[in-house]
Amino acid sequence: MSLPNDTLSAAYEAMTPGSARLAAKARELFPSGLTHDSRHFDPYPIYVTKAQGPVKWDVDGNKYVDYFGGHGSLLLGHNHPEVMTAVHAAFDRGTHFGACHETEILWAELVTQMIPSAERVRFTSSGTEATLMALRLARAFTGRSKVVRFRGHFHGWHDHMASGYSNHFDGSATAGVLEGIADHVLMADPNDEAGIERLFSDHKDIAALILEPTGASFGKMPIAPPFLTHLRDITRQAGTILIFDEVVTGFRVSSGGVQKAVGITPDLTTLAKILSGGLPGGAVVGRKDILDLLDFKVTKALGREKIGHQGTFNANPVSAAAGVATLTILKDSDACERANAFASTLRANLNEVLEDEQVKWAVHGSYSGLHIFTNPDGDDIVPSKFDAARYIPRIIDKSRHDGMPVKARMGLLVNGVDVNTGPSGWVSATHGAEEMALTVEAFRATIRSLKREGEIGV
Ligand SMILES: Cc1ncc(COP(=O)(O)O)c(C=O)c1O
Repeated sequence: MSLPNDTLSAAYEAMTPGSARLAAKARELFPSGLTHDSRHFDPYPIYVTKAQGPVKWDVDGNKYVDYFGGHGSLLLGHNHPEVMTAVHAAFDRGTHFGACHETEILWAELVTQMIPSAERVRFTSSGTEATLMALRLARAFTGRSKVVRFRGHFHGWHDHMASGYSNHFDGSATAGVLEGIADHVLMADPNDEAGIERLFSDHKDIAALILEPTGASFGKMPIAPPFLTHLRDITRQAGTILIFDEVVTGFRVSSGGVQKAVGITPDLTTLAKILSGGLPGGAVVGRKDILDLLDFKVTKALGREKIGHQGTFNANPVSAAAGVATLTILKDSDACERANAFASTLRANLNEVLEDEQVKWAVHGSYSGLHIFTNPDGDDIVPSKFDAARYIPRIIDKSRHDGMPVKARMGLLVNGVDVNTGPSGWVSATHGAEEMALTVEAFRATIRSLKREGEIGV
């Protein structure tokens, strides 16, 4: 869409009347009209009707190159034919047997073959449930109470991980969470080896350390492998359970997640998203002796209390079928590598646009991730040389970003590209030359529109 005399907002509203109508209805039903905070978008989000491969269409018939990718769960793109065949066949057999089934075994076998830390598997219904269980297992196994987490890292929305993602960076309890829970969560700064050492010397009762192993929000605030090595060493010495939250990175960074890519094995790993091929599902996997706390016989023999675990939709047969089909493809193909390569070229191409246009933003990320840094303080950065690790405190402080990420995202939507609110994106293995060209052009048009509107200087 060309925008000679138009503002981005006017163009957005002109092209999305159907989404506006549905959003008005939704506001009468849901708080903010939403079912997930990260779909929040002013004046209203797009409503999508269908998707295929790397693209999707909204109710008004607009087509978008999709980098939201089912919140990162669709490394194989929308509707991969083998995954769809498996899902349809599973639906036809029944959506819930209230019983064990063979597909959950095939699914767990693939997980244990692919994820180095996975000696045992327990399926959950979401990533949030997986991190909740991982922390409970760690506390029960060690008999200790404290958990270390990093500011800005996301581990789902349960009480234990509510502080420190987007607010309450001092570790105080968020609204509705008991102080007693927050008091047992210790906040650390990413990449701060000395700070971690201090925490471990001050606290001898640390049950677990949990982190997103490429850094918060899939490398938006990057962590380098040497820091992971340091964490592995210090947790091993302290008898603390190291938990890699690979809900996003698992089966994406490599077929065996970050742990396979960097050769560092955590004690426990949390998985979701790609695990179940775009359907609901999660898992906590890891050392047998830790997951044994879920085992009826082992706990009885050890004289230990078994950890209870229910969940109506754990290892649901349809999710399991999608998971088996997806992991089978990932195990035997170069899908992760293709997505990683596309993302790397895309980041370079988008930075070239920024340099051509003399805009001091940066597109950064690692593996198949994409993050747009809109430089709230106007620092003198060179887009292609941007070192996000140096900017972590500023990236964490969302209040400094002042609406520009939303405007950038709107510009991309108007020009046929959907990223998430970061603005960030996940690349799939189905993104190809056509999507590359469309995205680069959309980005250039967005930058030019924002310049025309006086939103960014030259
Ligand atoms: C790193 C990480 N952990 C945990 C979660 C929570 O997973 P779910 O949304 O399945 O509850 C997410 C979700 O985005 C995530 O990115």
